[in-house]
Amino acid sequence: MYTIEKNCSLRDKNSFGVEASARRLIRFDGVADLPAVFSEMGKAERWMVLGGGNNILFTSDYDGTLLQPTDQSMVVCSEDEQSVRVRIGAGVEWDDFVAWCVAHGWGGVENLSLIPGKVGAAPVQNIGAYGAEAKDTIDRVECYFPEQDQTGMLTNAECRFGYRDSIFKRELKGRAVILSVEFLLSRRPQFKLRYGDVADRVETLGGVSLEHIRRAVIDIRQSKLPDPKKLGNAGSFFKNPVVSQQKADALRADYPGMPCYPAGAGEVKLAAGWLIDRCGLRGKRWGAVGVHDRQALVLVNFGGATGRDVVDAAARVRAEVSCRFGVDIEMEVNIV
Ligand code: EPU
Repeated sequence: MYTIEKNCSLRDKNSFGVEASARRLIRFDGVADLPAVFSEMGKAERWMVLGGGNNILFTSDYDGTLLQPTDQSMVVCSEDEQSVRVRIGAGVEWDDFVAWCVAHGWGGVENLSLIPGKVGAAPVQNIGAYGAEAKDTIDRVECYFPEQDQTGMLTNAECRFGYRDSIFKRELKGRAVILSVEFLLSRRPQFKLRYGDVADRVETLGGVSLEHIRRAVIDIRQSKLPDPKKLGNAGSFFKNPVVSQQKADALRADYPGMPCYPAGAGEVKLAAGWLIDRCGLRGKRWGAVGVHDRQALVLVNFGGATGRDVVDAAARVRAEVSCRFGVDIEMEVNIV
């Protein structure tokens, strides 16, 4: 079953809370609906999938159709002593899935607790936090390809995951609708405590377990990141930039405390939040848009900002970082 809403307001469908509308919003249950949905739309219609609207910024009305999956299924496909394979519908709230895994004692996604958004969006930008990424547990992604009117499975390798990146942001952009995601979870979890704050908090909670990691991550996130229900935002607005070892060494000579993370041969990842902070921009406000005062990587809407206002603020932040450090920071949020 699918439903069509015309001239749909997007204000409560994007976590920035900016005002915009879409010509049409179609909610669909599963793949059985999609041939009819696409034939209803016609070949010329512009379309995109809208998950929870947590990583998207509308700078104008959307003159096309937004597709929203509503599949809420969470199914165990197979299990053995070591692992459990589950298939999760694209419309499931990501953190509900994480809570379900932790409650069953299945490890792999606990470090990704409280990331806002839907399961169907997780592979697109390969969500990550506290030393874990969605790609570590995603085994296959089930998609519908409207051009061929076919469904297919992409293996983990075929998804070509990278840092906040995948084939869904590249070759398959606008060509695939994610229907469900299969995850391989572990009954003998390898706890990831590389992040100092997580390890410390887990210790205070009484030692390492899936529940304690989840609790620790939730506490840390709630202390640093604004709740989009109270203050419009889309989590990290920028990606952490990757620079050459040479560039990182030169910056480190000037700023010995600068955080650096290894990022493959001859490359180093810098912390965009740190760079923005060192530009003196943490807590800075331009009208209705500002840089969050506890995490400089996050831009917030204090109320009434348009998508354009947010993009303008982002451009200023980018320009200041580039001017001060000679580093270009790319946006993580999708601008529509
Ligand atoms: N820092 C500052 N000032 C700031 C922010 C950060 O000095 O205002 C420094 C921190 O002290 C730390 C370093 O920068 O030394 C990195 O900061 P943090 O550990 O908070 O992580 P991040 O790089 O800012 C990334 C993800 C987050 C994820 C955290 C934790 C990206 C773009 N962001 O942030 O993901 O939760 O790591 O793993 O990779 C998201 O994508 O929406 C998101 C929140």
